[in-house]
Amino acid sequence: NTVEPCDFVIFGTKGDLARRKLLPSLYQLEKASLVHRDTKIIGVARNEMSNGEYVALVKENIEKFSGQSLCEDTWARFSAKLDYVCLDMQDSLAYEGFKEHVDAKRTMVCYLATPPSIYGAICKGLNDAGIIDPTMRVVLEKPIGHDLASSKVINNQVAEYFRENQIYRIDHYLGKETVLNLIALRFANSIFATNWDHNCIDHVQISVSESVGIEGRWGYFDEAGQMRDMVQNHLLQILTLIAMEPPTTLDADSIRDEKLKVLKSLRPINSSNVGEKTVRGQYTGGFVKGKEVPGYLDEPDANQKSETETFVALKVELDNWRWAGVPFYLRTGKRMPTKVSEIVIYFKPQPHNLFKDSFAKLPPNKLTIRLQPDEGVEITVMNKVPGLTGSSSMNLQKSKLNLSFSETFADERIADAYEKLLLEVMIGNQALFVRRDEIEQAWTWVDSIIKAWESSNEPPEPYQAGTWGPVASIALMARDNRAWYESK
Ligand code: BG6
Repeated sequence: NTVEPCDFVIFGTKGDLARRKLLPSLYQLEKASLVHRDTKIIGVARNEMSNGEYVALVKENIEKFSGQSLCEDTWARFSAKLDYVCLDMQDSLAYEGFKEHVDAKRTMVCYLATPPSIYGAICKGLNDAGIIDPTMRVVLEKPIGHDLASSKVINNQVAEYFRENQIYRIDHYLGKETVLNLIALRFANSIFATNWDHNCIDHVQISVSESVGIEGRWGYFDEAGQMRDMVQNHLLQILTLIAMEPPTTLDADSIRDEKLKVLKSLRPINSSNVGEKTVRGQYTGGFVKGKEVPGYLDEPDANQKSETETFVALKVELDNWRWAGVPFYLRTGKRMPTKVSEIVIYFKPQPHNLFKDSFAKLPPNKLTIRLQPDEGVEITVMNKVPGLTGSSSMNLQKSKLNLSFSETFADERIADAYEKLLLEVMIGNQALFVRRDEIEQAWTWVDSIIKAWESSNEPPEPYQAGTWGPVASIALMARDNRAWYESK
């Protein structure tokens, strides 16, 4: 896998994503000498700007969002690769002028960091100017649609000009070190590979809590809600990596075929069971990390009648052989006490309790995979407390086998998800990108839940900012005699 020289074009280079993530990530790749010396990085936006002004702007953004001052050598190499094109991206005639900035000898990568509503226009413009060739790659940012029907429209527009093996749909969670590690953990360790099913696992919890609110994105967020913003993509992608069968190889389609099978096995949630299996919440004013924050309806630009959810909890069941009878509980929300993403696998209890004198019920073994922050893997086991007690009155204690990434891999920097994904695009490996059928299957399942919510006419349950969500989410677990894992 080598990085080829490419024309890396960022459509929407002045937008939030490009400024916060794409340009700083490309800079880090340059620092790690992973960008080919003949690569060009071309920013496209509507504003008139000279190349010099663009370079200064990129510098300012990288310093701001990477939080570090730039290394002179790296910046010199990186800035020499930058180019800027002022273009009305919706005007297909304007692309003629764009042609002179790219070179057919290099692979072209087009990153569409624009609203999806103009993906079609950009593809058409490139096509009309005769720029598209079979080696070209196009990267699509989420949201790819609002539901199944609108995602099909966007995918069809792009598919008019690009084949599926040229399309890289980003879900940045797939670039997170710890999410990728799920594949290593499961398939490089027989201890997990052989205990990973309904015989050994009681249930699984996936929690992605955020302390931030909607960060000034009312327009986008209120249309989407937490279900579309986080569950349809990130949480379902995590779930597929936990639940999928071993792929035949690590190549893109082997992995994606297995993920798709998981999505197809999700038991539908609809009007008949939505009340029992789902909880939606919306935050009210409160305190997060000691700071007072407004409620969702009091955010700038808010529509005070909005019934959009900022929290979702779900009981998800998979109708397949491996996971029969093993619920996956998903929980994600904004304005929760802290930012933490965790997967907790609860193993089944021992068939017989030898220690009932000290423990009426032995606590289950738990495998906790901390995705962020403080990345790590932890196993909770029962251990004898050292001492003179014999076998008849053994004193046991819940203890932890703890693998902390920051200690074990102290010399390794944990790269931002976008760094890894941009590198994969430049290499041309689609394994960490979402295939069209996966997106459509995920929408099919999510649409049914959203439709059931709409027809129930129940508003989301309020929860105070700085708490773990509405009371109903505790009840969702309590009905099954279970409780949410308490993050540290
Ligand atoms: C984005 C969502 O996809 O993921 C945001 O649009 C959310 O609303 C973000 O805050 C969370 O990503 P991370 O990497 O900070 O967990």
